[in-house]
Amino acid sequence: MAPNLSPNPSNSLDAFAAEKLAGLEAAALRRRLAVTARGPEAAAERGGRRLVSFSCNDYLGLAHDPRVIAAASDALRRYGAGAGASRLVTGNSPPLAALEERLARHKGKEAALVFGSGYLANLGIAPALVGQGDLILIDDLGHSCLFAGARMSGALTLRFAHNDVAQLRALLAEQRGAARRALILTERVFSMDGDRAPLPEILALAGAYDAWTLVDDAHGLGVVEPGQRAPLEMGTLSKTLGSYGGYLCASRAVIDLLTSRARSLVYTTGLPPASAAAALKALEIVEAEPEHAARPLMLARRFTARLGLPEATSPIVPVLVGEAESALALSAALEARGFLVVAIRPPTVAPGTARLRVAFSAAHDAAQVDALAEALAELAPDSLRAA
Ligand SMILES: Cc1ncc(COP(=O)(O)O)c(C=O)c1O
Repeated sequence: MAPNLSPNPSNSLDAFAAEKLAGLEAAALRRRLAVTARGPEAAAERGGRRLVSFSCNDYLGLAHDPRVIAAASDALRRYGAGAGASRLVTGNSPPLAALEERLARHKGKEAALVFGSGYLANLGIAPALVGQGDLILIDDLGHSCLFAGARMSGALTLRFAHNDVAQLRALLAEQRGAARRALILTERVFSMDGDRAPLPEILALAGAYDAWTLVDDAHGLGVVEPGQRAPLEMGTLSKTLGSYGGYLCASRAVIDLLTSRARSLVYTTGLPPASAAAALKALEIVEAEPEHAARPLMLARRFTARLGLPEATSPIVPVLVGEAESALALSAALEARGFLVVAIRPPTVAPGTARLRVAFSAAHDAAQVDALAEALAELAPDSLRAA
């Protein structure tokens, strides 16, 4: 049979993908997955080599804590590998119910709701609270999933410059009157910069303009002093708590509304019981061992002091490089010396601000931190001078 030479949509699909990829490659923006076996003590095995990882958000090393692993294994044996359906269908597993109670208590809130991930939480929260005719004001450096949730809500979404309270005030003064409801979205600790939102000022403004505030605490929980709480405190189980999943802590009324209206909760399978049990055990450890929880920030400060960088205010320290290609080269040079410090490039960060994002963990020891500082001082003196 003669081959069919008419245009084949799957070929045009591949041609499209190949062309897009070539563009990404040329701009040093193509991303690749690397098989990496993460072990205890911040170890990462990649390509047959053992590296010390400074790229992981497991800030307290709890993903490998034997107590966390035991809690997850026990739940796995008792309740199985998966939740079976949406939580509204098969119900809450006992570890999930216990975790929600504990999260609410930890945050000083009436109730909590666990989602499949932090990303899913942020996709569900804003659209359940605001829509057309409403206003969202979002920090320019907010995480991608905060923007995605805002977009899905249909509310008028305006950005304010990063941590710029004066601009936030001006936008509220200009826009609040025309909107039925207003929601402010920000982060306690910014994921790629490691700095912190001026929450007392933001919450005061929110009070003055009857706006609601959501704080994304993905990178703050357990490892920085929380300060003032917002009415909507969301976060993830995947970083300090070493597991997987997301959550919102709020008033009982808000949580009950979200239970009925957050589409990313209602129409998706519940979190596996073992993930909930792991996060619950990790949260107990965070509360019981404050000295352990203080270590990542202490190590981050040791690092910034050694390199003459501005003092760290969280376990995340950015080393700004500039161009994506240079950030990739610096990351590769560090990898050759045994450090995993992944380059962060646009669109995760603004063009011209590619960087190494150095994340510190209680699992690091001081000698590892000093060795990384020494390597950076040798490999990237210009980046450090510019800081
Ligand atoms: C600030 C922030 N919010 C939300 C998320 C999403 O959380 P998750 O990884 O649980 O989806 C992340 C990280 O991935 C984050 O950095």
